[in-house]
Amino acid sequence: MQGIEIIATGRSLPARSVTNQELSKIVDTSDQWIRTRTGIGSRYYCEEETTASMAIEAAKKAVQKAKINKQEIGIVVVATTTPEYAFPSTACLVQQALELPEEVMAFDINAACAGFLYGLGIIAPMLQNSRKPYALVIGSEHLSKIVNYKDRGSCILFGDGAGAALIKKSEKDFYHKGYTRGNKECLYCNGLSSKKEDFYLHMEGNQVFRFAVSAIEEGIESVLKEAKLTMEEVDIVLCHQANGRIISHVEKKYKEYPALFYKNIEFYGNTSAASIPIALDEMEEKGLLKEGQKLLMVGFGAGFTWSSCLLTI
Ligand SMILES: CC(C)(COP(=O)(O)OP(=O)(O)OC[C@H]1O[C@@H](n2cnc3c(N)ncnc32)[C@H](O)[C@@H]1OP(=O)(O)O)[C@@H](O)C(=O)NCCC(=O)NCCS
Repeated sequence: MQGIEIIATGRSLPARSVTNQELSKIVDTSDQWIRTRTGIGSRYYCEEETTASMAIEAAKKAVQKAKINKQEIGIVVVATTTPEYAFPSTACLVQQALELPEEVMAFDINAACAGFLYGLGIIAPMLQNSRKPYALVIGSEHLSKIVNYKDRGSCILFGDGAGAALIKKSEKDFYHKGYTRGNKECLYCNGLSSKKEDFYLHMEGNQVFRFAVSAIEEGIESVLKEAKLTMEEVDIVLCHQANGRIISHVEKKYKEYPALFYKNIEFYGNTSAASIPIALDEMEEKGLLKEGQKLLMVGFGAGFTWSSCLLTI
């Protein structure tokens, strides 16, 4: 157990929001189909914005809100499947734009949609061994450039955006679990290594759906066990926003418990590594995060990777 707490959050979304109706002009789909099967009403697409520009804006907002001395930040992690460049890492661009000190470790990680929570799991022990008390953990994605608009079963799901959390070394409890079940077939993107026609994201939706439901349940149960807590004691469950139906399915299983299952997928779609920090920032803005509350977060995605953590606000 390595204690951390979230001090402040920030988010950045592209200016352009694309509704289901708008998407149905270029894809054979409908607002009704998308809403019923996914809970999504609109998502953001980058025009001028990029993975780095959104990561920078979200991180700046978090740092400004926290009102801390930037010299005290020792780690910058950007979780992304769509980095600005193969190298340098997007995290290096954040370090430069925020004029952070040189004594900072800045690097990207790719654990797909579980990336932000993998990031928290990585920085918690790092902070314990660091002379500096703060870390920035950011999720930023430009997924609209890798989805295949000829595949209506997947392109309707994804959106762009970034969220950032300023994390502090703390005495407060932090429990973390991380998993991988090597799988390439169900969800992958060949990207740069591919021939042009095979560049895009591929997804076997039904199989991913089944994996997601079991990963959330396993993530919840395993981190509760680690923390020696029960669902009765959890105030908020924040799942990766992949599909409203996936979250509702799990919510039903725990319906006798008081925990709020937060959902904002209607306005963002699936923003992969950015979905959890975007939701955190929105929840903070709405006054939903109150001191002392137990927050359980679960992420899952391509790989298959999944991760859960439990912390105190
Ligand atoms: C993608 C997903 C919404 C598809 O929903 P589904 O209920 O499984 O739908 P299916 O793929 O079985 O397709 C059902 C029908 O709808 C059609 N369809 C698929 N996409 C459609 C679209 N955008 N608009 C209209 N019809 C569509 C299919 O062609 C199929 O038609 P058919 O019955 O005539 O063959 C769902 O599988 C899902 O959300 N999976 C998880 C994806 C995910 O979360 N990925 C990210 C993980 S991090």
